[in-house]
Amino acid sequence: MGTNTVQPDMLQQLEQLRQEAEAALAQANSTEATRTWHSEYLGRKGRLTAILRNLGSLPAEERQLVGKVANEVKIDLELALQERQETIAQAELEAARSAESVDVTLPGRPMWDTFYTTSPDLLLRTHTSPGQIHAMRAYAPDPLRVILPGKVYRYEQVTARSESMFYQVEGIAVGRKITFSDLKGVLTNFANQMFGEGRQMRFRKSYFPFTEPSVEVDMDCVICGGKGCPICKYTGWLEILGAGMVHPIVLQNGGYDPAEFSGFAFGMGPERITMLKRSIDDIRYFYANDVRFLERV
Ligand code: PHE
Repeated sequence: MGTNTVQPDMLQQLEQLRQEAEAALAQANSTEATRTWHSEYLGRKGRLTAILRNLGSLPAEERQLVGKVANEVKIDLELALQERQETIAQAELEAARSAESVDVTLPGRPMWDTFYTTSPDLLLRTHTSPGQIHAMRAYAPDPLRVILPGKVYRYEQVTARSESMFYQVEGIAVGRKITFSDLKGVLTNFANQMFGEGRQMRFRKSYFPFTEPSVEVDMDCVICGGKGCPICKYTGWLEILGAGMVHPIVLQNGGYDPAEFSGFAFGMGPERITMLKRSIDDIRYFYANDVRFLERV
């Protein structure tokens, strides 16, 4: 160094450094990575400092130009770093937010559609849960245990697993000191009586507007014993019903004081249960009116 060829060399080095640094910065995807980048390019032992160390060996008139360019590169890279860090911080914040909490801007779960009718005030129910309030108003303030079977309608595509018309069996119990354990006990008992002793039950958290907390209840697959098969979609579990603790406001509307009374409710599809028990692979058989099928079931 110290010859006339040094200056273009150093300008070239600076330009190359700038390009490499910018490319590396675009690859840095975390705050941590930008810190490493800073020490590699702009730090005390970094590559820009290494180039600047050679400034002293240049003739004075060249030193000024190279120094000016080096300073520009430094400022540009510092600005680029700042911008990158802001982008990353924003992304990290958003990731943390969405991992932690419910996104309130998402659309709600669409309510089940029913069918259009031409009779005024006639609505075909999509489930039997509205029966809960009728039962409570009939019995309040006495404790109650009620089963409400009935036909329900949903406007949805008919497949081997779902019909647009089917049955549900609703159950509700209201009394003093009724807890979630009672719900678990009743449902486990039901599964053992219906499908044989030793059934495994799984309670998954869910949401229904009229119960809190709400659960969806699965039973170990009766076909494969939980190993996984096409019927349970290889999960080992079959969903058999929805359930939960009656919401305090529902209790209140039913005529019970929620400070004194509690209750649980569940709703199941008997066709589903029968399909599992009798290994029937298509729900449409139930309404196809084939006498051979009806005699078998
Ligand atoms: N009505 C709900 C359904 O159709 C099931 C349910 C009944 C959930 C009672 C909670 C309590 O899926």
